[in-house]
Amino acid sequence: MKFAALFLAVATATAPAPAAANSIERRELGGVLICNGANAKGYCQYSVYELDTCYNLPQQLKRNAATFVPDADKFYCYPYLMECGGFCMSAAGCTLGAISSDYKNKYDLSAVKWNTIITSFKCHLNTTAAQLTS
Ligand SMILES: *[C@@H]1O[C@H](CO)[C@@H](O)[C@H](O)[C@H]1NC(C)=O
Repeated sequence: MKFAALFLAVATATAPAPAAANSIERRELGGVLICNGANAKGYCQYSVYELDTCYNLPQQLKRNAATFVPDADKFYCYPYLMECGGFCMSAAGCTLGAISSDYKNKYDLSAVKWNTIITSFKCHLNTTAAQLTS
């Protein structure tokens, strides 16, 4: 009898705490705001996109997006001037480069003349940032 009671006390004390800490860690990466106009004006679309996956811009935004704002998080996106899987032989380069929430022209791609050519994009985990903060 005495042994049973002791066992119960130990078992209760070492039972794992509810998994609350885990759910706080989980955040969805890949949210991007895209709009026709500069400064989030005109038609806009916000979605969370899968990383390492190419997305063609919808008809309303294809070659017509001055706002391209990734969420302030550990990822960046490459806008492309051709459709997903398409060929690009532009001497000037087929992508604008890695765009994160730090990019200075994210609210006005017309500053780099990309608002009229942006056609698709693909986002990736920023492994440097992910390692620094996890
Ligand atoms: C990735 O994260 C690091 C650390 O925050 C940052 O310095 C770097 O600019 C980021 N890379 C890109 C491509 O945004």
